[in-house]
Amino acid sequence: MLELRELVKHYQLGEGEPIRAVDGLSMEIARGEFVALYGPSGSGKTTLLELIAGLKEPDSGVVLVDGRNVFEMSRKEAHAYRLHQLGIIGQPHNLIPGAKAIQNASLKLLLTNVRKAGPTIEPLLAQLGLGQRLHHRTEQLSMGERQRVMIALALSTGPQLVLADEPTGSLDTMRTREVLELLRDVCHERGVALLLATHDPQAAEFADRVDELRDGRLTGGLAVHGLAGDPPPVGG
Ligand SMILES: Nc1ncnc2c1ncn2[C@@H]1O[C@H](COP(=O)(O)OP(=O)(O)OP(=O)(O)O)[C@@H](O)[C@H]1O
Ligand SMILES: [Mg+2]
Repeated sequence: MLELRELVKHYQLGEGEPIRAVDGLSMEIARGEFVALYGPSGSGKTTLLELIAGLKEPDSGVVLVDGRNVFEMSRKEAHAYRLHQLGIIGQPHNLIPGAKAIQNASLKLLLTNVRKAGPTIEPLLAQLGLGQRLHHRTEQLSMGERQRVMIALALSTGPQLVLADEPTGSLDTMRTREVLELLRDVCHERGVALLLATHDPQAAEFADRVDELRDGRLTGGLAVHGLAGDPPPVGG
């Protein structure tokens, strides 16, 4: 579904050494696979997600989505890719103040398929546990509920690839577990490829695979598997 080949993005500020935000990174994510991109602050997570979304151009390398190179798309194709194929789970503070949950979650469908908005969003919000919160306004929702509205917005157009940048950053431990379990189930049930950037080891627990990022490169991910608490397979 998603394939990154030798992706490089350096930032040059002034005369000094360039910042190697993404530094020759290759990875693949299959349909229905939940991959946690685990790395400390400054390791290049957000830059990588922006490259995958086609919002930034790499210095070199390729992002293939379903075999198509994101950086060879026309402007129109790139818009269509971001609106239909891609779901981006943003931070809950991006919800529109004063708007109802159902309105906030409908924003993408209002741009792409107005007639589908009502019939799609209500059951989606219900599946996300917000059936009783459809008409609550942003301020009337808890942070966990707002995060779930963001998830509904990202999933509303039936994307095949979902990117999430610290989606649980503002949640407590219990809400974090809930949201991560939900994301994992949605990803598996809908066959969505999910890439979740985080520096929270708890988030890594729920992923099918953990890729650890350091200074713009993957380290192999072994360090976090210990934290994940998964017992090693016993027997054969
Ligand atoms: N527009 C930019 N210009 C120059 N340097 C940048 C720019 N954006 C990011 N950087 C630098 O690139 C590196 C990677 O940044 P990035 O935002 O991708 O990290 P991150 O892993 O998302 O960090 P965090 O966990 O804090 O969000 C950092 O050293 C950052 O300072
Ligand atoms: Mg970041």
